[in-house]
Order: sequence, then structure tokens, then C-alpha cells
Amino acid sequence: MGFFEHKETIEENDTVIVYISNDDLFPIIAKSGDVKQTKFGAVKHNEIIGKKFGCRYDCARGYVYLLFPNPEIWTLSLPHRTQILYTPDISRIIFELGLSNGKVVCESGTGSGSLSHAIARGIYPNGHLHTVEFHEERSKKARVEFEHHGLSKNITVYHRDVCEQGWPTEVDHKADAVFLDIPAPYKAIEHVKRALKLEGGEFCNFSPCIEQVQETCEKLREGGFTNIKTIECINSQTTVKSSHFPMPDFGVDYSELEEAGIMPKDCEKIGKYVKRLEKGSRPKTQNLKEEAGQEEAKEDLKLTECNFVVKSALAKRSQYGHTGYLTFARLPPRDNTL
Ligand SMILES: C[S@@+](CC[C@H](N)C(=O)[O-])C[C@H]1O[C@@H](n2cnc3c(N)ncnc32)[C@H](O)[C@@H]1O
Repeated sequence: MGFFEHKETIEENDTVIVYISNDDLFPIIAKSGDVKQTKFGAVKHNEIIGKKFGCRYDCARGYVYLLFPNPEIWTLSLPHRTQILYTPDISRIIFELGLSNGKVVCESGTGSGSLSHAIARGIYPNGHLHTVEFHEERSKKARVEFEHHGLSKNITVYHRDVCEQGWPTEVDHKADAVFLDIPAPYKAIEHVKRALKLEGGEFCNFSPCIEQVQETCEKLREGGFTNIKTIECINSQTTVKSSHFPMPDFGVDYSELEEAGIMPKDCEKIGKYVKRLEKGSRPKTQNLKEEAGQEEAKEDLKLTECNFVVKSALAKRSQYGHTGYLTFARLPPRDNTL
């Protein structure tokens, strides 16, 4: 199946995401005769083949949805072989690296291929991702997965140590962008320079610890990189809260204003009245009545019963979700001498 070419109907050998909830979804490969057990009962592959992607499938004790995969859903459902990158970081990486159709990207390590799928979509259909993983089993699994998702044309997996060997020499000065998610990125900076185009390119590193970030930034500076910046992507939840306050005490007799037909929404008139009071002139109730206009009065809340409602946006006191720091840098154009 082509991961980035949507199709209507589930066929034999397609990857299908079984969606139960946002926290409970997993991929299956449709194979006649197979059965997948879920908490709602069995998903029978014979029955899902021929159904439309996106449809609801009724199990014995509930239902699931059968979704077509995309990189975001894949990230939420993929088999974890390592720690992975999630969509808040991924979206910033794709944006800052300026990925678009036809670009060449170098990555290491491949890990579980979460980021690789998003990069592949960013450069699809004509770009290429060269991804290096030194754990042999993981590199093999990633290769099989990319192949199954129809991405062999766009992704090549290499089994090697990026700090020792970098990317294969055929890739020298071909990359528009390089991304690292390895424990010692500072040891690979010379290989990053070798991979990036001579006319310059973008670099990004993901590190969970600030010490790794510091060392990487030093190496980047020594290596002639510019525009070095480190950011942290954290989803921030904001709660909207309504607070009720009584009418402020301006030294005003609200029952008198009320009698004159002034309503809570007449803030401007109340303001004028308070100003007149401050200047020492007490307006006659009759005049106030004329100014207020009695028509609206019937429908509104009375001043003496009124509470001000103030809506405020509050960030949660503690923000969870530190995954790591993203360091971005740019290598300016250079001549052919490394
Ligand atoms: C945290 S995972 C990467 C996860 C990946 N970004 C994702 O989103 O799925 C780090 C991977 O880097 C690999 N790795 C660590 N050091 C490496 C090196 N020197 N060369 C190549 N791969 C390396 C590890 O084997 C591991 O699979």
C-alpha cells in the first residue's frame, strides 16, 4: 500500500489502524483468516477486507473504527522499539528544516521510524530520506516497515554508526537538512557537515538532556554553524474560568440608579454618574430616567442583584510533557574544502 496515497477500500496486506480511542489504537496488517482480539471483541480480518477505510466495525461488545494510516496516527499507534518523537516536536522539526517535495534529508537514529514517516511525507514524492541506525535488528524492522508502506523509493535505511562513519559517501553534500536523535550528537557534527550541501543547509538535533545540548551547541559553533537556537515544545493546556464579582462600591446608591432604569449593561452611564458625583453634582432621578430609556429596563438584571462575570484564561500550574530540547542551526554556504 502507498502510505501517502489514500485508497477507499481495505485490501489484503494493507496496514489498517484499529481505533478504539485517542489513547487506544494499534495497527494490523489485513490478512485473510487472521483475527485480532480487542477489549470489545474480535476483529475478523475476513470481514474487514472489502470494507471502506474510516468505517465503523462492530465487535461483540462494542465497536472500533478502521482507519487509513497517516504519520500522525502512525506515531500514536506504531510498535515501539525505542523512545519516539511525537507530533508537537515533529511538526516544529518539519517546519524549521523547511522540508518540501524533492528535498534530501539525512537522519540518525531511525529508532521506531516515527519521525521518518513524517519526514518522508514532507519530501514526498520526489525527495529522499537517508536514515542511519546502528542497532541491526531495528534497522531491519524499519526497512521492512518502510517497504510495506510503499516508501522504499523515498527512504533508504543504513545499518552503521553515525558517529564513526556518518552517512555513505554517495550522500556527501547531497543533503538539504540533517536531523539527529542519538545520545552523543556532538560526536557526529563533522559527518553532518559532510552530508550537507556546499551551498548550505539546515540542522536539527533532539536531546532530552541540557548537557547534551550544551556540548552539541559548542561543536556546532566550532563547526561554523550559525543561527543556533534551542527550544522546547510543550503542549500547554489553558482553562477558561468564570469569576463572579459583586458590583464595585463606587459610593453609589445602586437602588437609586436602578429606580432610574439604569441597567448593569449601561456601564458608560454608570461611569458618567460616578464622575458627576465626584464633581459634587448629584443628578436628579428624573433626569437619569430620561437618560436611561425605560424600554430596555424590563428585560435586564437589576443593578442591586448584579454580579460582574469576568472570564480569564489560566495556564495549568504545572506543565507536564518535557520530552527533550530541539536545537536548530544553519550551515552557511562554503567552498569545496572541508
Ligand atoms: C530515541 S531513538 C530514535 C527515535 C526516532 N527519532 C523515532 O522518532 O522513532 C534513538 C536511536 O538511535 C540509535 N543510535 C544511537 N546511537 C547511534 C549511532 N551512533 N549511530 C546510529 N544510530 C544510533 C539507537 O539505536 C536508537 O534506535
